[in-house]
Amino acid sequence: MKIEVPEYIKSIVPYPPGKPMDELEREYGVSNAIKLASNENAWGSSPKAIQAIQDALTNLHRYPDGSNFYLVQAIADKFGFSPDEVIIGNGSDEIIEFLVKAYVEKGDEVITSHPSFLMYQKVVQVRGGVNKVLSLKGMGHDLPAILENITDRTRLIFLDNPNNPTATAIPPSDLYTFLSKIPESVIVVLDEAYVDFMDPGMRVDDFSLIRNSQGRCGVVALRTFSKAYGLAGIRVGYGLMSSEVANYLHRVRQPFNVNQLAQVAAIAALDDTEFYEKTLQGTREGMAWLRKEVEKLGCTAYSSQTNFFLIDVKGDAAALYEAMLYKGVIIRSMKPYGYSSVIRVTVGTKEENSRFIQALGDCLSELSYVS
Ligand SMILES: Cc1ncc(COP(=O)(O)O)c(C=O)c1O
Repeated sequence: MKIEVPEYIKSIVPYPPGKPMDELEREYGVSNAIKLASNENAWGSSPKAIQAIQDALTNLHRYPDGSNFYLVQAIADKFGFSPDEVIIGNGSDEIIEFLVKAYVEKGDEVITSHPSFLMYQKVVQVRGGVNKVLSLKGMGHDLPAILENITDRTRLIFLDNPNNPTATAIPPSDLYTFLSKIPESVIVVLDEAYVDFMDPGMRVDDFSLIRNSQGRCGVVALRTFSKAYGLAGIRVGYGLMSSEVANYLHRVRQPFNVNQLAQVAAIAALDDTEFYEKTLQGTREGMAWLRKEVEKLGCTAYSSQTNFFLIDVKGDAAALYEAMLYKGVIIRSMKPYGYSSVIRVTVGTKEENSRFIQALGDCLSELSYVS
C-alpha cells in the first residue's frame, strides 16, 4: 500500500482509556479488580433506564428516531430550553466533534487548556485545525492568557468546567467577565460533564448565556448522561446552544447518530430523581470520607467540584499506579499531565473506597513514600 496520510493525522496519539478491569485481572493475576479511573457512576445505572432498555429490545430491527424527538423534548422541558436549542450526541464527545466539523477549517485556531479533557485537541487535529494549548494557572483555566491568545483565526474555545483532571471550576463572576470580552466571532464551549456534582453556587446560568448572545460571543453548554446518570456504556450526551448553532450542527451529524436504546434510557434516567439523588449523596459522602482517610495516610487531597479528585502521594505517581494495579485497584497517574506525584481517583461505593484506602496505605508503605 502506498497511500499518503496527512501529517496532522500521523501525529495523533490515540486517546488513552482507563485500563479495563478484565484486562487487569488477566495481566496481573488479580481477581475482583475495582476501577476508580474513568469518573464513572459507582452506583450503576438508573433502574428506570434499564427497564426502558429492556422494553425497547423488541424494536431493534427499526432505525432509531433520527430527530431524537422525545429525548430532545424531555431535555428542553427539564431545563427550560426550546427543542431547537438542543442537540443530542453519541456521548457528549460526539458534540465536540460536531462543533469542530462545523466551525473549524484547516488552519483555524482552537484554544484549550493543558491539562484538560484530551478529546478537544484530538478532534481539532483530525480536522487540520491549529491547537493553541495554554497551561492551567495553578489548577484552573488561565482566563487572562486565553483572552490574550485570541486572534482573527480563533473559532472555538473549550473550557471544561469543572476541569478534568484537576476538578476545579471557574468562579461564575470570573466566567461572566471573561465571556463579555470574547469577540462575537468566537464560540466558547462550556463542557459541563460534571455539572451535577458542583456546589450550586459555582454553577453558571447557561440559559441566560445562551439566550442573551446578541452582540456577544456564542456559548454552547455540553452535558452528559455518562456520569451522574450512570449511562457511560450506552453513549449519550447533549448540548444546549442557540438554534442558529444547533442548525449547523444538525448538518454535520449522521442521521441516526444516537441509538434507540440510548434515547429511551436517557429519557427514563432524566426522570429518575431517586437514582440521581442517590448518586449525588453517595458521591458527597464518599468524597468526604476518602479525603479524610488519604490525609490520615500523609497524602494531600485537592478540592473538587466533581466525582473525582487529585491526591498528592508525595512520591512517584507512576510507580504508585503500577503498585496499585497489583492490588487490583485501577486509578490514574497524573504524571503524563505533568503532575509527577499526583494521582486521580473517582469516588466509588463504600466498599470500593475502603479497598482503595487499604491498597493505598499498603502501597505507600511498600514504596516508602510517607513515614
Ligand atoms: C470533561 C469531559 N467532557 C466530556 C467527557 C465525555 O463524556 P461522554 O461520555 O458524554 O462522551 C468526559 C468524560 O470523561 C469528560 O471528562
